[in-house]
Amino acid sequence: MIRRLIFVSILLLCCSVLRAQKHVISKPVNGTKPKQISPDLFGIFFEDLSYAADGGLYAELVQNRSFEYNPADNANWNPLTAWKYQTDGFGYGTISVESATPVYPNNPHYIMLNVEDEGQKGVGLENSGFDGIPVKAGKSYRFSVFLNVMSAQSLPVSVALVDRKGKELGSSAFAAAGKGWKKYTEQINVNFDNDSAKLVLLVKSKGKVGIDMVSLFPTETFKNRENGMRADLAQVVANLKPKFMRFPGGCLTHGDGVANIYRWKNTIGPVEQRVDQRNIWNYHQSVGLGYFEYFQFCEDIGAKPVPVLAAGVSCQNSGGTWKIGSTGQKGIPMDEMKAYVQDVLDLIEYANGPATSAWGAKRAAAGHPASFNLEYLGIGNEDKITGLFEERFRMIYDAVHKAHPEIKIIGTVGPSPNGEDFDKGWKLADQLAVGIVDEHYYEKPQWFLKNTTRYDAYNRQRSKVYIGEYASWGNKLFNALCEAVYMINLERNGDVVKMASYAPLIARIGHTSWNPNLIYFNGTHVFPTVNYYVQQQFTANAGREYLPGVIKLKGNKAVNDTTAGVSCVRDAATGDIILKIANAGNASLSGTADLTRVGILPDSATLTTITGDIQAENNVSTPEAILPKSSVISLQKNWSFAVPAYSLSVVRINTGGAGQTK
Ligand code: AHR
Repeated sequence: MIRRLIFVSILLLCCSVLRAQKHVISKPVNGTKPKQISPDLFGIFFEDLSYAADGGLYAELVQNRSFEYNPADNANWNPLTAWKYQTDGFGYGTISVESATPVYPNNPHYIMLNVEDEGQKGVGLENSGFDGIPVKAGKSYRFSVFLNVMSAQSLPVSVALVDRKGKELGSSAFAAAGKGWKKYTEQINVNFDNDSAKLVLLVKSKGKVGIDMVSLFPTETFKNRENGMRADLAQVVANLKPKFMRFPGGCLTHGDGVANIYRWKNTIGPVEQRVDQRNIWNYHQSVGLGYFEYFQFCEDIGAKPVPVLAAGVSCQNSGGTWKIGSTGQKGIPMDEMKAYVQDVLDLIEYANGPATSAWGAKRAAAGHPASFNLEYLGIGNEDKITGLFEERFRMIYDAVHKAHPEIKIIGTVGPSPNGEDFDKGWKLADQLAVGIVDEHYYEKPQWFLKNTTRYDAYNRQRSKVYIGEYASWGNKLFNALCEAVYMINLERNGDVVKMASYAPLIARIGHTSWNPNLIYFNGTHVFPTVNYYVQQQFTANAGREYLPGVIKLKGNKAVNDTTAGVSCVRDAATGDIILKIANAGNASLSGTADLTRVGILPDSATLTTITGDIQAENNVSTPEAILPKSSVISLQKNWSFAVPAYSLSVVRINTGGAGQTK
């Protein structure tokens, strides 16, 4: 509070009193020319890592709904993981995991339940969800199941959500009849809140039945999509207003060995027909959140889709490079590459082709006849640049380039900001004139401060850059501010850095395979980090023009100083002028902004500040330790400012659409 008061007083001292009149100012400053900034500079990167998809963004509440978990996913797993045989009513019978006559061959396992005596309540199965099933009183849930009734008579079935002590929170009942797999759908209305309920499915008379695809979704998903996203989590992601979304992952995409390469075709169509897959991060992907859902989610949040496909090789860390005899990078056999290249081309048709085309028709059948307007396509993810890689990358690149010159291909330059793969990747990009290359770096916060000029010297004639993955190692305010300083410098280089996305995006608490992340969550709550709020300031306040020379720091401190960054950008859509001042240093910073280049200077503007204790972070115990705070400040032609140590300040000047650069 005291810190806030001091800051407000400093601002009041420095800013002029509110003026009654608007100023029309037309004189250019120093003759410095505005620089174009990429329209897609700041976006997000979603990877199914740390339960980001199943048990995360994908709103399915049943874990292992199709009984496909197996020891290859995780040594402790089998088809009954997260399930319990339920005989609480003293009935008995048998259950077995079978695969003779599945719902669909892609989804081989199912349960055969044989009820010999239904007892007092029936016999069946109980699912514990992902760390329990969170439900809310007054809300409804969409239950569905595939059943294959082997008995001649119809079977009464009940489905209920119960608490740990067995108390019913909501239920429904129906009759199942007939041989052959049939889908049954029920609505369960819940009367009590519970964070860790269980779903109980009971057959209430003697009989034999096959069970598969046991599913439970909240009726209210993000945008109320049936096979949709968890509303609260999706909303926090949407609130970033990202310009694009890269998906479905980094290492996940090129996979743990060739057989584990992510194949987009396995992830579309009716969910019961998709091919579940082991996740490189040692869990299981239902792929219920598949390519259709990714495209649709991008559209729902106004982000351009940026799918990334393997470049025909698996991750160089396959099998774990530290293990003797590990798999390492392997290539799809050359005699299979033609088909693989066709898969890549088919993805473009799936996204953009007319509804009458073979793959466009599948998109239309899923409910989206219009194009998804695919513009970017990533080929490869921080691969080791070997002969194996190069040969396959060239094949894919040439085919896509020839068939779809309109698609902007994003190549890859290894896992680090420099080094052998980086150099070789750039060399290949030069040879092929790849439009954009994907650089990755996870570094100490100080690295970001030391490298603010990284792109100043980049050759503008070579490939442009997408920083597909970056983060400083930590979620403290200091980390977020170092990222802010760096991002300001990306704005200055927004002509060569076309896109950038922090990584990873979201992680389920208790299941993190990677830290830090931008957003943490559990079954009931979402915890945006300070890094998230910094990212949000940049996406919400993106500009199309960088106006050099507007902000000057006191003492002629350079704009790319190692602990500070300042920028002035103009938002093309609104004409608003945005000033950003990031201070990762331990002293307050002052300077002036020459606003004479703003067409019409209003009396006031909005100032948003992120500041506090540099060691503070938003977590489960202190979820709101650092939040952005906004206020209205007065403006003047030569606006003087002072910002506190360890802060990001963003001033948005609404010019009423008249923010023309002169
Ligand atoms: O973002 C986490 C991982 O980091 C990605 O999967 C991979 O591309 C990188 O090594």
